[in-house]
Amino acid sequence: MALGHGDTAPQAVDTTGLPELPAEMATQNPWREAEGEVLFKAVEIGAKGFNSNCARCHGLEAISGGLAPDLRFLEASEYGDEWFLDRILHGYEQNGAVKMPPFEGILNQQAIWAIRTYIETRPDADAIAGKSTEIAALYDKVKALPPDAGEDQIAALARELETAGSGFEALSGAPRTVTVLDQAAHILRSGASHAPAAAELIQSVLRK
Ligand code: HEC
Repeated sequence: MALGHGDTAPQAVDTTGLPELPAEMATQNPWREAEGEVLFKAVEIGAKGFNSNCARCHGLEAISGGLAPDLRFLEASEYGDEWFLDRILHGYEQNGAVKMPPFEGILNQQAIWAIRTYIETRPDADAIAGKSTEIAALYDKVKALPPDAGEDQIAALARELETAGSGFEALSGAPRTVTVLDQAAHILRSGASHAPAAAELIQSVLRK
């Protein structure tokens, strides 16, 4: 398999914190319309699963470097899900060579749909890059949030992050994107002591 950066074996993904799913495999992403905690958990776990199992071929943050298709464009629809499931479960072989390994029996159903949710909610990276000045200013604000900040102050900053994080399009046509700004707002809402973690997330899109 000369395709990837190294040949790390497919790895199981810890799905603790995600809701249980029925034993039978869903045919559509059960979390396409999810909101709040479930949505953020799915994206968080999906990102980990993607980075450890898919990124070496499909690119970091699902931005393909050309080795394998850019999965951000896979339609967020029943048709796209069917295609996604077939590939992730069975992989792909060409002339006896494994181009993509199968993940059936390695990833559980929650991990599979978490990865799907992560992929389809990726915002357009170029649009995010175009807002880097605004994002840098928000990063500074989150970093400067005092540990004893009151609920009102936290909520106001979280709303500001959400406003800046909305309005991006998903290349998959999914109903919404989940940007690091949305994720940072969600983390911040659990308390000012989480501000450093929120800031670190925001910084991840500024480093490029
Ligand atoms: C060793 C490299 C490699 C790894 C690892 C890998 N893939 Fe792939 N993947 C490919 C290649 C190459 C193709 C193109 C196969 C084809 O021509 O249909 C592909 C195709 C796909 C497709 C179909 C895309 C399309 O537009 O047709 C999906 C969906 C997919 N991969 C998902 C994943 C997911 C999710 C993971 C991680 C759990 C993953 N892949 C891991 C190499 C890889």
